[in-house]
Amino acid sequence: MKRTALILMLGFNLIYFGCSNETALEMPDENEETPDCTPQFPEMDVTYDNYVKGIVDKYCISCHYAGNSPGPGNFTSYSGVAAYSDFFATRVIGDNADMPQGNAPLPQAVRDSLNVWIQNCAPKN
Ligand code: HEC
Repeated sequence: MKRTALILMLGFNLIYFGCSNETALEMPDENEETPDCTPQFPEMDVTYDNYVKGIVDKYCISCHYAGNSPGPGNFTSYSGVAAYSDFFATRVIGDNADMPQGNAPLPQAVRDSLNVWIQNCAPKN
């Protein structure tokens, strides 16, 4: 069940990325079981381009580079990372985060910044 919800949210993110322009948001299609995303910290400018890419390049792409990499996905591009953003809260940011696998958890300040990015709907720039 939980997995299904996450996958649905994932589909939502792929379709609705770049939701910073709130006036452009439309009522969700009734057939879409996906919630809207409203940036929670609009004053904080944490984007993929200005922050997240550097973190992921440093800590994650050694295992998440697609092909037959140990970790799933391809985190070398924005869309590749964004596709997994729904998993960040539990796997990367939260107290029980286990990524980067086999390494120390990310510093708290980094996790806080990643959390802002996720809460702001994972903007690219
Ligand atoms: C040493 C290798 C390694 C590193 C480094 C690593 N990962 Fe992973 N990651 C894995 C493997 C293997 C899996 C799949 C098994 C699992 O889910 O535990 C995984 C799974 C995940 C998942 C869950 C994907 C899903 O479909 O459920 C996320 C999200 C994730 N990693 C994010 C990250 C992030 C972000 C970083 C960097 C901060 C990172 N990983 C660093 C190996 C790694």
